[in-house]
Amino acid sequence: MSGKPRILVLYYSQTGQLRHIIDNILLDVREELEVTYAPIEPERPYPFPWNPDVFFDAMPETVMHMPTSATLPLPGPVMQAEYDLVIFGHQPWFLNPSQPITAFLQSPSAAVLKGKKVLTVIGARNMWLHAQERVKEQLLKQGAELVGNIALVDNTPNIISTLTVIRWAMKGQKEASRFLPAAGVQERDIQEAQQYGKPILRHLREDTLALLNDELLRMGAVNIKTGLVLLENTGIKNFRKWSKYIAAKGGPGAPERLGRVKQFKNLLIVAIFVLSPITSLIGKIREQVKMKKLKEDVAYFKQLKFEKGRI
Ligand SMILES: Cc1cc2nc3c(=O)[nH]c(=O)nc-3n(C[C@H](O)[C@H](O)[C@H](O)COP(=O)(O)O)c2cc1C
Repeated sequence: MSGKPRILVLYYSQTGQLRHIIDNILLDVREELEVTYAPIEPERPYPFPWNPDVFFDAMPETVMHMPTSATLPLPGPVMQAEYDLVIFGHQPWFLNPSQPITAFLQSPSAAVLKGKKVLTVIGARNMWLHAQERVKEQLLKQGAELVGNIALVDNTPNIISTLTVIRWAMKGQKEASRFLPAAGVQERDIQEAQQYGKPILRHLREDTLALLNDELLRMGAVNIKTGLVLLENTGIKNFRKWSKYIAAKGGPGAPERLGRVKQFKNLLIVAIFVLSPITSLIGKIREQVKMKKLKEDVAYFKQLKFEKGRI
C-alpha cells in the first residue's frame, strides 16, 4: 500500500467511554494512519444522567429497532472520502444496538459503509452478543465486510456491574463509591487495548485484513462466558415480550404506558436482585446440561459470519 492507510472511525458514545477505548486502540499507530473521526449524533440527544422512568421507557423502541431520534447526516466530505478500513464503535442498550446506532444504520448516511472493510469495537457492561448480531446483519445489508471485532466489557460479577451501571446511568457517578467499584470497563483493560493498534496497522499495510480477526482473538480481544450466553438468550426473549406489551399502550413517553414501564422496571429489579441467586443456581445446572451447545455458540459468536436466528 502506498501512503498512509486511511481509517474512518464511526462511533457513538454517550459518556465518552467508547471513544476512550478507540483512542487507546489507535494510540501507538495514530501517526502512521490517516484517521477521520465521525461521531454519530442524535438530532435530539439522549439524556445523561438518565431519569429512571425515561431510561426504562427507552426499552421498547430500542428492542423494536424504532429509535425515537434520527441521527444527523454525516458531513459530505466524510461520505465521499475513500477508506481502507472503517472502525465502527457501538454499544448495547437493552441487549440491542443503542438507539443512535440503530438510527444511523437505518439512515442514508449508512451508505458510507458500502463496500468497506469494517472492524467493530464494542464497549459494554457484559451482554453484547445480540447487539453484534443485529449490527452484523445491517453491515451485510449495506454491502460491508466485517473483518474483526474487539469487545471490551466490565469484568466484575454480573450483579456488581448491574449495580454500578445503574449508579452511573442514573446519577452520572462512574467513580467507585464506599461499597462498589468504578462503573464500566476496567480502566486497565482500556489501557491494554493499545496492543491492538499494531496488528491492525500491519494487516492494513500488508493487505491481509482477512487474517486480522484470528490474530485479535489470539490476543484476547473477545472473551465470552457460557453463563452469560444463556442469560442473554433468556433476557432477549423477555425483552421482546415486554416491549410489545408496553408499546401496546402508547408511544415513547406516553403517560398511558407509564404503568407498564414501571411494572417492567420492578420486575427487572426483582429478577436481578431477588431471584438472581435462585436463577443463577438454575442457570448453573442448565449451563452444565447445555454445555456442548453453549460451547458451539461461543465459537460462533467469536467469528464474523452471520447466521440468522443464532440468538
Ligand atoms: C439505556 C442503556 C442500556 C444498556 N443496556 C446494556 C445491555 O443490554 N448490555 C450491556 O452489556 N450494556 C448495556 N449498557 C451499557 C452500555 O452498553 C455502555 O457500556 C455504556 O452506556 C457506556 O457507553 P458509552 O460509550 O455510550 O458511554 C446500557 C447502557 C444504557 C445507557
